[in-house]
Amino acid sequence: MNKKKIVAIVGSFRRDSFNRQLAQKAQEVLGDRAEFEFIEYADVPNMSQDIEFPTPESVRRIREQIKAADGIWIFSPEYNHSYPGHLKNLIDWLSRPVSKEERQVLSRKPIAISGASNGLGGTVTGQDLLVMLLSMLNADVMNFPRLRVPNAQDQADENGVLHLKDSLPYLEKQATAFLKYLDRG
Ligand code: FNR
Repeated sequence: MNKKKIVAIVGSFRRDSFNRQLAQKAQEVLGDRAEFEFIEYADVPNMSQDIEFPTPESVRRIREQIKAADGIWIFSPEYNHSYPGHLKNLIDWLSRPVSKEERQVLSRKPIAISGASNGLGGTVTGQDLLVMLLSMLNADVMNFPRLRVPNAQDQADENGVLHLKDSLPYLEKQATAFLKYLDRG
């Protein structure tokens, strides 16, 4: 069986982001069971139809990464109980057809969702809204299990390094479930 390729989208640009660290832990947990690659998108411009064509290079690059992937794993904080604006901007770009012949790249794409936050809810509201958005785009969201890491600061040391002492088993379960989800044919 071919190794599945998973691309990670991190919904935070913060240097020491808990969500980026969570994605790195997911990569470790997956080990050699999957290929894992980060999608970097800080260079994606704000969506404006004035610059939609020709497609900006950053958007073209990310569409190719997504097309080549078997699944997407999103790791995102919530900002004010929703997904961060820059993540919405990326998804808005990806929601557009590639060309007259080729539909948008999120359609039928399997997606797993995880999130870490400093709050009690651990991104649950932001995740719910993300599911609504991605479902509208016909993505195949894996609704169960989704991972929430509440009070992430309590699972980090004084240097902000996330150790996930409580959440690691749940991350492991989600990783295994996502591999199965990708294999479901
Ligand atoms: C937050 N934070 C936050 N936390 C939460 O649990 N619910 C929320 O609605 C919000 N809202 C929010 C808005 C904005 C603009 C910021 C900058 C932050 C706190 C957030 O959980 C915390 O900063 C995390 O550390 C962000 O994730 P990263 O950057 O560490 O991955």
